Amino acid sequence: MTVSEVRERFLKEKEAVKTLKDLENFRQLFLGKKGLISQLFKELRSAPPEKRKELGREINLLREEVESFVRQKAKELKEKELQERLRRERLDAALPGDTVLPLGAKHPLSAVVEEITEIFKGMGFTVETGPEVEKEEYNFDMLNIPKEHPARDMQDTFYLNRKGYLLRTHTSPVQVRTLLKKRPPVQIIAPGRVYRRDDDPTHSPMFFQVEGLVVNETVNFAHMMWVLKEFLRRFFETEVPVRFRPSYFPFTEPSTEVDIGCVICGGEGCRVCKNTGWLEVLGAGMVHPAVLEACGVDAERYRGFAFGLGVDRFAMLKYGVDNIKHFYENDARFLRQFLSL
Ligand code: PHE
Repeated sequence: MTVSEVRERFLKEKEAVKTLKDLENFRQLFLGKKGLISQLFKELRSAPPEKRKELGREINLLREEVESFVRQKAKELKEKELQERLRRERLDAALPGDTVLPLGAKHPLSAVVEEITEIFKGMGFTVETGPEVEKEEYNFDMLNIPKEHPARDMQDTFYLNRKGYLLRTHTSPVQVRTLLKKRPPVQIIAPGRVYRRDDDPTHSPMFFQVEGLVVNETVNFAHMMWVLKEFLRRFFETEVPVRFRPSYFPFTEPSTEVDIGCVICGGEGCRVCKNTGWLEVLGAGMVHPAVLEACGVDAERYRGFAFGLGVDRFAMLKYGVDNIKHFYENDARFLRQFLSL
């Protein structure tokens, strides 16, 4: 192989170099350890001595030519590749996104708890809380619920392994906690989770209540009726019919259950109100003197009223939800309907 043959090959091959990969192959072919240039140098040894110097110079010149081409071409191809990549990955930061990021929203139950809380705050109540793991003593004993009372039954109550503790079955123990901590007058509500062994379309083993407690020297049953009626009017944003039925709770005397005219059928009778035209929404009554005394409050001097409402029930009625489970399954299709809350 002669220098000019290799040069010819070089001139031909260099036209075919289109990519960095081609270039690397090309480089191996001419400049590699066993490449054409090396071969020329090897053959140089067998050339006649008087021609070696001249031939060596020619090979060196050719090598420089090839090297400079490789350098040049590498630069060019790298630049080309970069430009192509920039074009391909072009990004207009000012372009509006094609999907709007979904914003989180309030859970309908949280929204209803907040709404209820705001209404009572507007009537001068403050907010108290208590633990969900509660002492049996606060959940039952001090609320005048005797040891044999059916509410204490294992059927209804989640007892914990630790003796004397349970998952609170209502928010009423916060009445006790409040009275142990504060001297009257008190005027509080206590929203929170409660637990019962219950499971059907209108009962969930965990649900929400809001407790209310007012204790001072003068409060009476009529005050309680006004507060509850006013609350219901504000919550349902209309003059709902309200009915007070005599009832029984160990911790109130007298006790009442409060019904509203069915907001689904307008009182005509439907599935939701079981054709009675009325819906039970609240339990309430005058705080039993035994409860006041158990908390160290002078029952001769002070009186109070208390109430408890089921938040889930209120939310179901307000938004026409027919199964309490919807609130706890977190199906996005259900929750999405409340994005505006
Ligand atoms: N704690 C009662 C319940 O869960 C509701 C209630 C509260 C009734 C306060 C009267 C007074 O059913």
